[in-house]
Amino acid sequence: MTCIVVVGGFFGDEGKGKIVAHIAHRDKPAIISRGGVGPNAGHTVTVGDKAYGVRMVPSGFVYPGARLFIGTGVLVDPRVFLHEVELLGVGGRTFVDGRCGIIEESHIQRDKKDEHLAKTIGSTGTGCGPANADRVLRIARQAKDVPELKDFLIDVPLEINRALKAEECVILEGSQGFGISLFFGTYPYVTSKDTSASQIAADNGVGPTNIDDVMVVFKAYPTRVGEGPFSTEMSMETSKEKGIEEFGTVTHRPRRIGKWDSKLAQYSVMVNGATQAAITGIDRVDKGCYGATRYDQLSRTAREFVDMVEEDIQIPVTLISTGPDVSHIIDLRDEV
Ligand code: IMP
Ligand code: MG
Repeated sequence: MTCIVVVGGFFGDEGKGKIVAHIAHRDKPAIISRGGVGPNAGHTVTVGDKAYGVRMVPSGFVYPGARLFIGTGVLVDPRVFLHEVELLGVGGRTFVDGRCGIIEESHIQRDKKDEHLAKTIGSTGTGCGPANADRVLRIARQAKDVPELKDFLIDVPLEINRALKAEECVILEGSQGFGISLFFGTYPYVTSKDTSASQIAADNGVGPTNIDDVMVVFKAYPTRVGEGPFSTEMSMETSKEKGIEEFGTVTHRPRRIGKWDSKLAQYSVMVNGATQAAITGIDRVDKGCYGATRYDQLSRTAREFVDMVEEDIQIPVTLISTGPDVSHIIDLRDEV
């Protein structure tokens, strides 16, 4: 495995961050590079007793051996970026492509005050939609125009393609989920860009023939924040009864929770060209599975769930996340 793209299969918050962190520790990539929209993403990575909510820096930062990039297609909020670099102590190995679009304070104000974006769509209010609009209108600034980012600039496509040529491992980290893709999702209740694997590759300047694997991440119980259709949604009472309620990393809004969505999962695997799948939150299907690290530790209920998923999507489930910590995972990749 040389170049792997990791994307979310449902409506975001599938736990991609944790999956990327695990793959990074095991596969030791030279580079982990972010694709996707921008700081509207919130990835929670838990290591030991510390939980990090990252929005700009790739969630693979927990693996210290990799250089961390933000791909050309991604929007950068310099304040969020600089704050995270400082907080996580990743200066010296974290870089931004000079052509990344810049989010200004005015974009954030527009995102928060615009009736359509804030109320109807339920945007994250992080300025991404207005900044992408300005980028398309060709009036946005680029990272190379921001003096504070001067020391972080790099040609991301060049560095990644060089690493791939040298047979090094590269992880391209998606953000958001398939269901909120601007192209394939529940328009207009979507984010401001495509979120599928092809887009994540394009964001980083990696051509389709250079991708070896696409790992799509599904939550056992999908969630959605913000507005928009959610066909398998359950009531808040039901999710409370099951003890599976959740809150957003960026917005702290309660997440809407649903049951496994076969149809969306199948469509998502198809468009993403997924070769493998990860399931997160299997400990919500059966609490007894919490923290399991081997397949034979899974209960019958959990195994039946995995079988059902594989039957649905027709690709192997190779990673099963059993709890929030990076170590809470079953890795079956060597067995396929
Ligand atoms: P925007 O991307 O902030 O414009 O928000 C558009 C829609 O996408 C809203 O419903 C957001 O809640 C949703 N969204 C954007 N980014 C994420 C994410 O990282 N996770 C989950 N939902 C997201
Ligand atoms: Mg999130």
